[in-house]
Amino acid sequence: MENKKIQEIKDLLQKDLVDQISLKELNDLKVKYLGKKGLITELNSEIKNVPNEEKREFGQKVNELRDCFNEYYDSKKEQLDLEELNHRLESEAVDIGLPSTVISTGAPNILEKVIEEVEELFLSMGYDVVDGPEIEEDKYNFEMLNIPKGHPARDAQDTFYIEGEEILFRSQTSPVQVRTMLKGEGKVPIRMICPGKTYRRDDDDASHSHQFMQIEGLLVDKNISLSDLKGTMDVLFKRLFGKDVETRFRPSYYQFTEPSVEVDITCVSCHGKGCPVCKHTGWVTVVGAGVVHPNVLRMSGYNPKEWTGFAFGFGAERLAMMKYDIHDIRTFYNADLRETPVFDREDEE
Ligand code: DAH
Repeated sequence: MENKKIQEIKDLLQKDLVDQISLKELNDLKVKYLGKKGLITELNSEIKNVPNEEKREFGQKVNELRDCFNEYYDSKKEQLDLEELNHRLESEAVDIGLPSTVISTGAPNILEKVIEEVEELFLSMGYDVVDGPEIEEDKYNFEMLNIPKGHPARDAQDTFYIEGEEILFRSQTSPVQVRTMLKGEGKVPIRMICPGKTYRRDDDDASHSHQFMQIEGLLVDKNISLSDLKGTMDVLFKRLFGKDVETRFRPSYYQFTEPSVEVDITCVSCHGKGCPVCKHTGWVTVVGAGVVHPNVLRMSGYNPKEWTGFAFGFGAERLAMMKYDIHDIRTFYNADLRETPVFDREDEE
């Protein structure tokens, strides 16, 4: 009886294990023969009905059937998997010869590049690059820079006040001079530059922005004079604009320096010949500077009889505008993914 069943399943297998078969059909076959209620699986539970002396033979036959099926299943599965993989590889093939989509990622910010160039130069001359708060106290932004309350010099910088007259958005980076000297505790030399955001209640137009980048510089040591400042400015502007660029000083007035100067450079657009950029003078004013006022040194803990220093401050956007021929300061604060223009200093050397 049981042998008959085995024969039946064997015959069935012979019909079922065909050459052409799909993956789904193969899986269905597996369920049919070896599933929980599969035909071969069920033979196992028949074994209890087989007389003892035949059990061994019966078991062997069932194992043969299972091996037969498994052999078929494994080889078909391998073949079908391979076929499917090949099919997928073919249909998903990527043509690497096709032109790709260009994704615009923008470029380094021009203003940042100019600031980095200035930083690198000053670092190479032994300066530190320091930071200061953008929300500042009146004390540092004005008073300790020799601009007492009520002084008309305050009006020149339309300041954003935040809390009464004590807390403000710094209108200049000069307060960082004071903070640096206080930290220096009377020790020399002090050599620092501070690039940072500054704020003024200006209406935005092509040459004004209510927020702009200033770079402040301060050097305090023995016997520092205007000629040290002149040399430093020369190095700075030759580095930024090429070795033919000249600098000159004009007398000026700042509360925190005495004497004070404006630093002009020969116009980068016309090389000093005269053009609309320099209003036909051949010169452009780029920096405010001077010898640190004795009051400022004293208030920050430096004895002016012993030490002297120079200080300077300039707008970074103006330099970047000149360097990259940009005519509107607002350009820096709009999204613009264009590539950075190449400024070839080597050409001029
Ligand atoms: N803080 C000045 C301004 O914003 C620029 C300046 C002038 C800075 C002279 C200085 C300096 O350090 O010595 O207009």
